[in-house]
Amino acid sequence: MEKIQYHFHTEMFRQTSQLVTARARLRATRPGKPLRILSFGSSIGEEVATLRFLFPNDEIYGCEIDDRVLEICQRSVGSLATIFKSSSEAIAANGPYDLILASAVLCLNPAPEDFKDRFPVSKFDDLVAMLDANLNPGGIFIVTNASYRFTESPVARGYDTIRSDIVHSAGFINVFTRKSRPYLQPVASSGGSIYKRRGNFVPRDDEDLADSVFEKRAGAGAAAVHELELAAPPASLIVLSQHKRLNTDWANKNIPERTVVVEYAYKFCRVEGTEDHGYVQEIGWTSLVGEGFHRRKPTWNPVP
Ligand SMILES: C[S@@+](CC[C@H](N)C(=O)[O-])C[C@H]1O[C@@H](n2cnc3c(N)ncnc32)[C@H](O)[C@@H]1O
Repeated sequence: MEKIQYHFHTEMFRQTSQLVTARARLRATRPGKPLRILSFGSSIGEEVATLRFLFPNDEIYGCEIDDRVLEICQRSVGSLATIFKSSSEAIAANGPYDLILASAVLCLNPAPEDFKDRFPVSKFDDLVAMLDANLNPGGIFIVTNASYRFTESPVARGYDTIRSDIVHSAGFINVFTRKSRPYLQPVASSGGSIYKRRGNFVPRDDEDLADSVFEKRAGAGAAAVHELELAAPPASLIVLSQHKRLNTDWANKNIPERTVVVEYAYKFCRVEGTEDHGYVQEIGWTSLVGEGFHRRKPTWNPVP
């Protein structure tokens, strides 16, 4: 198997919102059943450790293609999971899986000049098809920070989309159309992640910016979207203060046309009749398919 992403950067709890969403869905669709989970491209092991924490009673597997990084992963978190060298054969031998996480692996980032030659969409499709072949029906595939959109690949026809209020980004790297033309391009700024839209590609809807959790359909039927509410605000809140922030506020350069402006609105609150505090966050972004802003459901974030 070929190495795709060449950087090794990883962190603890990197894809927590996607993983918590997948966990909620899998607990509902297969209650009490132990899960087999694969971290594809586990790097030095922070993702495996995160999975162990979030899925304490399930079987965790991690595969990595780079020998040096693989050795660090085995040495540091080898007691938490089964870690093996990435190959189609080894992935199949340890599977099939109920959850596969492909985070920052199905990509070349930063995208080089010869991106199209080094990572054409056919290579993306082949890897996605290989992972799909090792995922059980009803299983969940998380794809974040990928150079192409999973929803555009041929195997995606067999998947439903799982959306939740706590997942509001599929990543921050360059995203390409299936002709390897730029679609979403990061804008250089002094802070946060900002995307600019390029070309005429029109996604299926505004949630294209966030869709990253997909469920392999167990039977025949039309594609569906399942919406989960995992962080609905309590009914009675006393608002203590509030403000809004745009992702463009801290940019130190002119913001180009077709920038995807993301607005974060915060309300800091106390739950009425208690001493519990937290904040309601409402996120919206420039519509990718029409005029105006696309608004997400508010979420509740307790503060200790
Ligand atoms: C940027 S890191 C991402 C690590 C982790 N998934 C995360 O999101 O924190 C990408 C890792 O994928 C590995 N990788 C690249 N191509 C791979 C392949 N074909 N199979 C398995 N791992 C691969 C790289 O060696 C690198 O360690």
